[in-house]
Amino acid sequence: MRKRTVVLISGRGSNMTALIAAASNPDYPAEIVGVISDRANAAGLGVAAARGIVTKVISRADYTSKEAHDGAIDAALVSFGAEIVALAGYMRILGARFVEKWLGRMINIHPALLPAFKGLDTHARALRAGTRIHGCTVHFVTLDMDDGPIIAQAAVPVMVGDNEDTLAARVLKAEHRLYPLALGLVAEGKARMEDGRTVLAHFADDADNSTSVVMAPDPLREESDLEHLARITP
Ligand code: GRF
Repeated sequence: MRKRTVVLISGRGSNMTALIAAASNPDYPAEIVGVISDRANAAGLGVAAARGIVTKVISRADYTSKEAHDGAIDAALVSFGAEIVALAGYMRILGARFVEKWLGRMINIHPALLPAFKGLDTHARALRAGTRIHGCTVHFVTLDMDDGPIIAQAAVPVMVGDNEDTLAARVLKAEHRLYPLALGLVAEGKARMEDGRTVLAHFADDADNSTSVVMAPDPLREESDLEHLARITP
């Protein structure tokens, strides 16, 4: 059975789009059964609806407290029959009760190689720090922001002459490959959270040990798969 997955967004939704694209393959171990946004004007909502995914807007302004807002999201997840929650550019911090309930079943993508550059403005900070390698991380969501056990990472080079935009674009491309891979691992049970750590299973059928492969694109050959990019970029 494919794992019923709900994606939480706040904006553009390009990672959500990448997950929907991956899940359009019936062999993919997760199916995207719903998209929830805390913002009515999130561009990703239209993209999801156009692909036949049920969407829900749950605005913070409609609830008297943060807990009530979290509770409404939780109720929506239950009504979707969610087994996995994938945060994809969801810009609110979820409360302890919510996080504890979904612990081990909720994942997030962060645009940096954690534990470096938690929080916002990761690309500008990586440039300022002079790092030569940057990237993105998918991790289980725990109580502390951007602090949960790492599931998968993709590295990209920082090129001479990069600015925030060029670096962000290179990382985003890696995000769109990494997130489907990581969600697939979780949905298949190949990555699970145990005692605050990620346990990566090494299955007998995983002859090439693909769960351990580092995703590091060749710095000198940018991918020219424009059709794929066009499909997953709004
Ligand atoms: C991505 O960079 C993601 O890593 C971060 O927020 C951004 C969301 O972009 N958490 P999108 O909405 O998926 O296009």
